[in-house]
Amino acid sequence: MVPLLVPAAGSGRRMGADRNKLLLPLGDRPVLHYTLAAALAATTIGEVVLMGQEKDFPAFAEIVEALHPVKPVRWVVGGATRQASVYAGLMALPASTTGVLIHDGARCLATPALFDRCAAALAHREGLVAAVPVKDTIKEVVNEKVVGTPPRDRLWAAQTPQGFAYAQIVAAHRQALVEGWEVTDDAALFEKLGWPVAIVPGEETNLKITTPQDLAIARFLLQAHCQNQP
Ligand code: CTP
Ligand code: MG
Repeated sequence: MVPLLVPAAGSGRRMGADRNKLLLPLGDRPVLHYTLAAALAATTIGEVVLMGQEKDFPAFAEIVEALHPVKPVRWVVGGATRQASVYAGLMALPASTTGVLIHDGARCLATPALFDRCAAALAHREGLVAAVPVKDTIKEVVNEKVVGTPPRDRLWAAQTPQGFAYAQIVAAHRQALVEGWEVTDDAALFEKLGWPVAIVPGEETNLKITTPQDLAIARFLLQAHCQNQP
């Protein structure tokens, strides 16, 4: 059993909505409902800690209550950046924690199987990231000019869950505070320290809800999934 941290303290600036994008409706439930439902259905997740803004806590309580969880779910105050929110979550776990999974609240279509795959891999890895091979040809651009085309067979799109040995990810976050490193995912801290990060096969449908277009795609995928259910 492994604890799961869910960063949910953003404001969804790129979504352009009047509130945290995780509280926007997707079908008949808020985005965060689907993220939590999948996490709670994963057999390897022992407890869930949400990091949020205090003003969203009543909405979190409603979402969690509606899920009737049989595992502990609690929420703590997040920070001004995703990185600070994850650190707040790490500090909310007992010092005896051995491993931890971290999964963005905004990735609401991750399946229970993906959580379980990552938790299983964490038994013999100190750092891991769910990822999928990149399909597009990627251009590196500086000042609107293409300066390079990295070989595609080496490119993977990083997702969450990401998983880490607890003592190491705490040490990595503390080092980041000292050095002033700012990163957009936790695996990047391991990379900066030269610590190994393994790939776990992610899911093509595990998109991150960032813009209104993502919300429309997620709605479509969710409907398609429901139609495929027996
Ligand atoms: N997040 C967080 N604390 C922050 C910022 C972000 O916990 N201070 C969370 C978000 O709630 C989200 C995840 O980190 O689940 C990934 O962040 P992102 O997709 O960038 O969400 P937002 O920061 O809310 O969106 P934007 O960058 O468009 O404002
Ligand atoms: Mg953000």
